[in-house]
Amino acid sequence: MDYQQIIEDIYKEILPYAKEGKQADYIPELAKVDPDQFGMCMHTIYGETAAIEQADTRFSIQSISKVFSLAMCHSIRGEKLWEKVGKEPSGSAFNSLIRLEVERGIPSNPFINSGAIVMADILLTELNNPEEDFLSFVRAVAGSPTIDYNRTVAASEREKGYLNAAIANLLKYHGTIDNDIEEVLHFYFLMCSVEMSCRELSVAFLAFANHRRKFDYAGIQLTASQVKRINAIMQTCGFYNEAGEFSYLVGLPGKSGVGGGIVAIYPLQYSVAVWSPRLNPKGNSVMGMKALELLTSRTKESIF
Ligand code: DON
Repeated sequence: MDYQQIIEDIYKEILPYAKEGKQADYIPELAKVDPDQFGMCMHTIYGETAAIEQADTRFSIQSISKVFSLAMCHSIRGEKLWEKVGKEPSGSAFNSLIRLEVERGIPSNPFINSGAIVMADILLTELNNPEEDFLSFVRAVAGSPTIDYNRTVAASEREKGYLNAAIANLLKYHGTIDNDIEEVLHFYFLMCSVEMSCRELSVAFLAFANHRRKFDYAGIQLTASQVKRINAIMQTCGFYNEAGEFSYLVGLPGKSGVGGGIVAIYPLQYSVAVWSPRLNPKGNSVMGMKALELLTSRTKESIF
């Protein structure tokens, strides 16, 4: 399979969508990003790489960070993790707090904001140096020691983060989170602010695509079975109220972020990362979704 040729062709084909949607603006710093950018990168488990356009430009990974925080929490707490968070798709927006009240403070899954805020709380409780340890893990799994937080983006999100603050308060009221609300929000926004390129994300997610290889990065170890379960949650919950649509159009486990990034994996074959800041109304990259739909259609490779 000539993935390089395939993604070059796909890029030409999705150019008509280049002006569709707009970048996230509820985080003031992200509103400043040039929306007309695109990058894509793939890695196969056999060592092949394909990359086009701005595959090496770093961007705000936002909710893609939730896969990394889940991986750390699952490694540390094992099955006990599921006492504090569910594993069911929510069918609602990533920042919705409707179900949280009905479910008495136990978020539906670790990828909606409420669930990821619970992961932030667990890491604050479990780790001696949460900020350093999270970054060390991400750097190790991506094989890139210069990956960092963008503290300006994190502070900008906190300033306007009324909805996430409401979620954290509801979680605290129900006793789901143990640490101080302000500390939990600070760490949650910081994890979202990590900047990575498509190439770095693609390398990082190869570790999830190739679950038969030992998963052991900066002291975070997952069994093959745990990696499989994280991939299952990406499949069912990775795109919020568009998880069904992504499954239907693309047919791969994946995770999106409001920075315009999407990662997906084809287990035991490849990982892929795509980025373009213009989002659809559900917060997922327009060109990213199109590119991945065409990738699995062209290659006839998907988990279905
Ligand atoms: O908490 C937020 O709203 C953002 N830091 C992350 C949301 C996000 O990326 C949702 N993904 N599509």
